[in-house]
Parts: sequence; structure tokens; C-alpha cells
Amino acid sequence: MRLERLRWWHIEDLLPIEREVFGAEAWSPAMFWSELAAGHHYLVVLDGGAAVGSSGDEGASGESVAAYGGLSSSGEDAWINNIAVVPGYRRRGLGRLLVEALLAEAARREARRVALEVAVDNGPAQRLYDAYGFKQIGLRRGYYQSTGTDALVMIKELS
Ligand SMILES: CC(C)(COP(=O)(O)OP(=O)(O)OC[C@H]1O[C@@H](n2cnc3c(N)ncnc32)[C@H](O)[C@@H]1OP(=O)(O)O)[C@@H](O)C(=O)NCCC(=O)NCCS
Repeated sequence: MRLERLRWWHIEDLLPIEREVFGAEAWSPAMFWSELAAGHHYLVVLDGGAAVGSSGDEGASGESVAAYGGLSSSGEDAWINNIAVVPGYRRRGLGRLLVEALLAEAARREARRVALEVAVDNGPAQRLYDAYGFKQIGLRRGYYQSTGTDALVMIKELS
């Protein structure tokens, strides 16, 4: 399993995962392209072995995408975006690996705080963020337009 910067050639391989994990809220290819073009920091976990899980299809390189996620930042503010772990790779620490690497990048970029939105009914992700000291500071009503689900806004202050 290898953690590396997400590059444009990974986008095609992660799109089926994005659709499976986020459904109607999935990002389009253009959104990923635009984040990379803006210099934001996206990471991918690649598995060189056999594909596991329903969406872990092997890409052109023979490696499959097991997980990905990103950090965008502007001045003192940073945001963690769409962390996704392929179902067959969950509960093996990949979520933690991504959160730790993205927080380290936020610190490297001298951000003062890192924010994220998480669905009110997404217990697994909330527990993951709780474990890293994110605190709920607000609620965005109907944030997920496809379902009308509210999002918690969580923030971690960096020292
Ligand atoms: C949330 C998600 C990223 C977690 O990834 P993961 O690789 O399974 O997480 P890890 O194995 O690193 O687990 C880290 C911690 O998260 C919490 N956690 C993760 N999955 C959990 C679950 N199903 N139930 C309860 N807690 C869970 C636990 O506290 C866990 O620590 P532990 O294993 O020591 O108990 C993954 O379930 C996922 O991709 N979900 C769908 C997409 C999503 O919700 N993304 C976040 C959008 S805001």
C-alpha cells in the first residue's frame, strides 16, 4: 500500500469510487482537475496487489486506488475534502493515514485551522474526525442537496 500525491492520471480510476461512495454528491472529473490545477493537496493510497472491494478495479498502471482525499487551503484556513476509502479497504487505518497526512500538510502550509463538513448521519466519519480533535462548531441545513441531509461543520485549531 503506497500513499502518494494524487495526480491527473489517477482521476479516471477514482471516479467509480467517488460515485459509489458519494452517490449524487459525487464530484465530477472537472472538480478534481480544478482542485489539482489550483495547487491543492490531494493524496491517493494505491494498492499494488489484487483489487479488493467492488470498486477497487485496477487502473492502467496495474495498481488500484484504495483511498483518497484532499486538503485545500487559503491563508490561515484549510479544508479537508471528500475522504473516501473503498469499502473493501475500510477499518484498516487508511482513513487515519489520510487525515494525519492532510493535517501535516495543513501545518506545513501554516494554516491555523482545518475545517470540514460531515453528514449528521455519518457516524464512522464523525468518530474518525473526533479522534483527531475536530469539534463541531455549526450545522449547515440541507447541505447535501440530493437527500436534504444536514452537515456538521467541524474545525480543528492547529497550534
Ligand atoms: C469514514 C471513512 C473515511 C473511514 O475510513 P477507514 O479507513 O475505514 O477508517 P480507519 O480504519 O482509519 O478508522 C479510524 C477510526 O474511524 C472510526 N471509524 C471508522 N469506521 C467506523 C465505523 N464503521 N464505525 C465506527 N467507527 C468507525 C473509528 O474511530 C476508527 O478507529 P478504530 O478503528 O481504532 O476504532 C470510510 O468509512 C469511508 O470512506 N466512508 C465513506 C465516505 C465518507 O464518509 N467520507 C467522509 C466524508 S466527510
